[in-house]
Amino acid sequence: MPLLRSFRRHGTGPFGAQPVMQDWPGLIEAYRAWLPVSDATPVVTLREGATPLIPAPSIAERIGRGVRVFLKYDGLNPTGSFKDRGMTMAISKAKEAGSEAVICASTGNTSAAAAAYARRGGMRAFVLIPDGYVAQGKLAQALLYGAEVLAVQGNFDRALTIVREVADRYPVTLVNSLNPFRLQGQKTAAFEVVDALGEAPDWLCIPVGNAGNISAYWMGFREYRQAGRSWKLPRMMGFQAAGAAPLVLGHTVEQPDTIATAIRIGNPVNKENALKARAESNGDFMAVTDAEIIEAYKLLGAGEGVFCEPASAASVAGLLKRREEVPSGATVVCVLTGNGLKDPTTAIEHNDAKFHAGIEPDTATVAKVMGF
Ligand code: F0G
Repeated sequence: MPLLRSFRRHGTGPFGAQPVMQDWPGLIEAYRAWLPVSDATPVVTLREGATPLIPAPSIAERIGRGVRVFLKYDGLNPTGSFKDRGMTMAISKAKEAGSEAVICASTGNTSAAAAAYARRGGMRAFVLIPDGYVAQGKLAQALLYGAEVLAVQGNFDRALTIVREVADRYPVTLVNSLNPFRLQGQKTAAFEVVDALGEAPDWLCIPVGNAGNISAYWMGFREYRQAGRSWKLPRMMGFQAAGAAPLVLGHTVEQPDTIATAIRIGNPVNKENALKARAESNGDFMAVTDAEIIEAYKLLGAGEGVFCEPASAASVAGLLKRREEVPSGATVVCVLTGNGLKDPTTAIEHNDAKFHAGIEPDTATVAKVMGF
């Protein structure tokens, strides 16, 4: 087993030295030397980062040959997705620049993170979402965090075009991943993976939508290797939903469609960076069908006890699809980008659970239904 990074220190309680969890300061403080911040930057943080790297024995067993599989569970960030990594940076830098309002287009997670961090930083948050295609939990978050939500009758790509134009013309800061500080924050996930494993993995499997995260991971892995923190680099394996796979097809998809609404994107803005990551890492892009995504989603839940959202499961669906090609004994990390609670509707509609409704409230009936 790898040496996992430990944050324990020894405190002195009434019973002598006791291991206690050290307070995690958030990723800007933890990785300050690697980030474009200064003493003048007002750090807006919800203590994001330091998410667990969870072994996935059920998935590893399906591959065999001594392959080790880990899940980078970024659904445990404060708003439930990896977007918090980018947003602590983007909002801190917007505040440093004196901005009073931010704007983004989003399939849901960016809007939740933008709203939370903007409000915490005392700014207004405007979020444009594709009307009817944002999971319930994400919409609930944007509303509860106090964003001003504009549901547009068009897809994410259209909404992104609009917010770029608005940010060009009016005094409002764009916090989509075109904002370079977003990827700076997100690259810290790669640092954490290397810090936890003591080395970079052989494969990094990741869902790809607007292609910011794969670009950020690649930047992080390269920076760490250049600094001597690791001696190898992973192959970057990006997975898109079959109905929204512009990077696999090599052209824009006008009407993207998938159950994984987070990655329902037809024209990724970080396309060039993602293509570079693929080429430089000898990686690959591939499409996974909605059926394959749902199969992996259920396997993660019932086989590993890890609840992620459908888009996140694309990384595991992709790994299983390519399992013959994983070298024996390799270490693979699958990025689980968002928490399953974001999208309760999909979970309730797609599971293999036994659900017995209308049970009479007596012990004998319950025992009988249980099979006793
Ligand atoms: N997984 C989840 C859960 C996401 O929310 C996203 C993107 C991705 C993967 C893909 O990451 O865009 O960097 O390639 N969500 C954006 C949003 C588009 O608006 O929340 P990417």
